[in-house]
Amino acid sequence: MDPVKLLLGFLVLGSVGQLHMVNGHGGTRVCKFPAIYNFGDSNSDTGAISAALSEVQPPNGESFFGSPSGRFCDGRLLVDFIAEKLKLPLLSPYLDSLGTNFRHGANFATGGSSIRPGGYSPFHLGIQISQFVRFKSHSTALYTQLTPNATSSPFKSKLPRPKDFSKALYTIDIGQNDLGYGFQHTTPEKVVASIPDILGQLSEAIHKLYEERARFFWVHNTGPIGCLPYTVIYDKSKPGSLDGNGCVKPQNAVAQEFNRQLKDKLLQLKKTLPLAVFTYVNVYSAKYELISYAKDLGFVDPLEFCCGSYYGYHINCGKKAIVNGTVYGNPCKNPSKHISWDGIHYSQAANLWVADHILNGSFSEPPVSIGEACHSLKNV
Ligand SMILES: *[C@@H]1O[C@H](CO)[C@@H](O)[C@H](O)[C@H]1NC(C)=O
Ligand SMILES: *[C@@H]1O[C@H](CO)[C@@H](O)[C@H](O)[C@H]1NC(C)=O
Ligand SMILES: *[C@@H]1O[C@H](CO)[C@@H](O)[C@H](O)[C@H]1NC(C)=O
Repeated sequence: MDPVKLLLGFLVLGSVGQLHMVNGHGGTRVCKFPAIYNFGDSNSDTGAISAALSEVQPPNGESFFGSPSGRFCDGRLLVDFIAEKLKLPLLSPYLDSLGTNFRHGANFATGGSSIRPGGYSPFHLGIQISQFVRFKSHSTALYTQLTPNATSSPFKSKLPRPKDFSKALYTIDIGQNDLGYGFQHTTPEKVVASIPDILGQLSEAIHKLYEERARFFWVHNTGPIGCLPYTVIYDKSKPGSLDGNGCVKPQNAVAQEFNRQLKDKLLQLKKTLPLAVFTYVNVYSAKYELISYAKDLGFVDPLEFCCGSYYGYHINCGKKAIVNGTVYGNPCKNPSKHISWDGIHYSQAANLWVADHILNGSFSEPPVSIGEACHSLKNV
């Protein structure tokens, strides 16, 4: 799969659920999320592309899992750090038929996915929502059939508890491919014009989840797509359009416009879906800060990347090309010093830095940490 076709995306906001909080330390009220349901693209794919289309190749996964683990990264993704923070197991991909455990949630994110149909992947957000609806009804039917002896059944213990669906955290991280596909096939102006329709479809998806009794939404906004090394390499408008960090300004401007409208959309949804709690997470700013202070934080130039190569054409991470005796595509020796793993996806070290900064709420509106994302600001 051409990594240019795997540009990813991100999105979360706050309201009134008080179903299951307990008093934590320092007077904060911790929500006991029993499960996570995630929707998105390769930024949070934990194995769907590997299960459905073709296996992610080594050296992906080398820094943590020791095998690719279906992730476009040397290690863990933001969604993995979210699971760790909530003390839940890492999420199994819904599409994986082997070795899965859905007791504490499922991951519907698939590399290349966009919100709207017709992009790089067949598994656009509408399909991911259909998969979730089927997953919920089917797992509930199976769980109920397996009563009452079921607690001891190894099969039942891997099914979600039906009552957990309304207590779970719903994480959404998608939109980057809608923008990336648009930039590749149209113009920045046309991409901007398409944002209301893209967000209309996101809104429909959230309505469907709400009808299924989803209540707590943690939505990542989209990252600075103009700072991805591959964006910079392929951008035709440079050098006049690069900012001080070497990022493509017009693409970042579109991402910021998308984020502005996303935040508005979530505020509207909060009014129409009274029992929902939205947390909007400004992943864009966290990533941009990381890129801006790369050097001070001990990272190499943020436009360098560790795995894969560019030699007039793109050599995917995991592939090599030999040109005049020189091998291109060998991974770097120090992935933890790189912000970009493969030119498109962030490294585990970058994901960890971003997780450390977003999960405590300092980039959220309202400013709740992930453990408290069942409360709107007024209830905190
Ligand atoms: C459930 O377990 C009980 C006690 O172990 C057993 O007597 C009964 O037959 C089991 N029922 C089913 C449907 O397996
Ligand atoms: C390989 O080396 C030859 C001779 O130096 C040169 O003419 C050619 O352009 C090189 N090819 C590539 C793809 O760099
Ligand atoms: C969140 O964590 C980051 C990184 O450790 C820290 O700089 C920031 O001050 C924290 N913010 C809050 C609100 O705790």
